[in-house]
Amino acid sequence: MKRGDKVYEGKAKIVYATNDEQYRILYFKDDATAFDGKKKGTIVEKGILNNRISTTLFNLLAENGIPTHLVKVLSEREALVKNVSIIPVEVVARNIIAGSLAKRMGRPEGENLAFPIVEYYYKDDSLHDPMINRDHVLAFSLATAAQIDHIKEMALKINGILRQYFLDRGILLVDFKLEFGVFNGEVLLADEICPDTCRLWDAESLEKMDKDRFRRDLGKVEEAYLEVCRRVCAADGV
Ligand code: TMP
Ligand code: ASP
Repeated sequence: MKRGDKVYEGKAKIVYATNDEQYRILYFKDDATAFDGKKKGTIVEKGILNNRISTTLFNLLAENGIPTHLVKVLSEREALVKNVSIIPVEVVARNIIAGSLAKRMGRPEGENLAFPIVEYYYKDDSLHDPMINRDHVLAFSLATAAQIDHIKEMALKINGILRQYFLDRGILLVDFKLEFGVFNGEVLLADEICPDTCRLWDAESLEKMDKDRFRRDLGKVEEAYLEVCRRVCAADGV
């Protein structure tokens, strides 16, 4: 598959056309941003690690019946994906109170939730990705009822699969963000799942192993991404 023109450049990835309109190439960058791009930086080799982590997790999910956009890994920083049309809803699943949920509810980080929570955010940087609910999704035609119900079901199933997979590797899956896209009428898991888009805590020390190290200036950012990659990509846990 030949890499064509740049179609879109996001904060962490570049999307390229290919010689077949059905496919796109994702290029994973080292750029890191936080707080709607107000904080900018570089995490050395992040693109390589995120491509490896995300494709490992997407393959795991595909083996467990979750349809994804991933076709195959092309290189250290490139993956071939189906050319989905992204649904502009960021889907967050949470197991442990942290981040914006801790802030919104006035609770400390680290408390287990009684059951996993699924939240929706309208994917629009200029509006700072506001939180929305199922009614907003339908009233603003962001997705159909069948699509959003299927997405919630998939998000919970993905949470169950990933939570156990991470736990087997000594990592707590605190929360994470998913994106979905439509391809030939089917809803597929898209974008990426990596330490940029998840909160991952070491199960013993509770040390943060994700982008919060960058957001909160905690240091040892590269080391954390490398350690997640080492544990996630090991065939049968550590
Ligand atoms: P939050 O607690 O800031 O709402 O984040 C919830 C999860 O979503 C967390 O794992 C990080 C991820 N996330 C993204 O992937 N992109 C974003 O822009 C934000 C705000 C969060
Ligand atoms: N990636 C998002 C941004 O740059 C936010 C985040 O991950 O904290 O705004």
